Amino acid sequence: MAHNIAIVGATGLVGRTMLKLLEERNIVVGNLKLLASSKSAGATIMFKGDEYVVEELTEDSFEGVDIALFSAGGDTSKKYAPIAAKNKTIVIDNSSAWRMDKNCPLVVPEVNPEALKDHNYIIANPNCSTIQLVVALKPIMDSVGLESVICSTYQSISGAGQKGVDKLTQEINDHFYSDGSLRIAYNTLFHPLEPNGNTNEENKMHAETRKILGTNEIKTSFTCVRLPILGGHAESVQVKTKKDVSLKEMKSILSNAEGLEFVEEGPNFHYPTTQDAEHSDLVYVGRVRKEEHFDNTFDLWVVADNLRKGAATNAVQIAQKMIEMGLV
Ligand code: A2P
Repeated sequence: MAHNIAIVGATGLVGRTMLKLLEERNIVVGNLKLLASSKSAGATIMFKGDEYVVEELTEDSFEGVDIALFSAGGDTSKKYAPIAAKNKTIVIDNSSAWRMDKNCPLVVPEVNPEALKDHNYIIANPNCSTIQLVVALKPIMDSVGLESVICSTYQSISGAGQKGVDKLTQEINDHFYSDGSLRIAYNTLFHPLEPNGNTNEENKMHAETRKILGTNEIKTSFTCVRLPILGGHAESVQVKTKKDVSLKEMKSILSNAEGLEFVEEGPNFHYPTTQDAEHSDLVYVGRVRKEEHFDNTFDLWVVADNLRKGAATNAVQIAQKMIEMGLV
């Protein structure tokens, strides 16, 4: 059955990837609306060989729309998601605006699809770094339990949208360019700091990981770093399991997980890099080691394309799952 779909933020990095995914995944689209700010109204974008004109987002944009994929920033989501929901349009929102709202499911389809049943028309797509982490944690939690998770992230600048990509490119092309903010080129940066001493990204990962895994019992620690690379996020993850298992068993748990590719080290020693993950919808896990000096403790290296599984793919998978579950 065809569904009428709107993309809010269709001209942005994630919006354009969402459109690509609708095409790649052969989703049967009835009417397609491409929405953005007034600045982009009238621009044209191709979809399945046809040209579509971008429209300005207004309160009337959701008339007849079954599913709206939002990726236009938190302020736009706060204002327009409730308007769409009132119209009985299913909103799948990539911003952080609704993630911790108790009335909004926060969903990674491989991890907690059942949460979709309780939707009130707004479903939140988690933070990019949280998505790839929980895809790796879920099979471990289900098989051997999780005591604690310590994670450091290495995140590309495309997570900051087109303006982040433009800033890095400009700084690399003109070594002396500065807009007065901290440089990202040839540097390592943190996300904005919050009063508790964590960055906003670290706070999001704490809260979202618990909400998606459905437990407050796992102890977590996060350090999130922004790197001067254009695409892909990597994570160094240390997990302490409840049950002791061998390295072989841990590798077997990861090899059989959904949405995840376990990368075994071969004769030429290979591990997943952010470039390997580019354009892929999977989460890659490699460098799996059992710690010698800590009990039940494993190290993992988790890599994914932040614009795909970390944003657009997960949102489109939520839409597909809702269609499959008869919720749209
Ligand atoms: P526009 O291109 O017209 O500014 P990115 O995350 O890559 O920066 O993309 C942000 C997306 O959100 C763009 O499509 C942008 O449209 C859209 N957007 C930003 N502000 C608004 C707004 N107030 N109303 C509608 N769309 C918006």
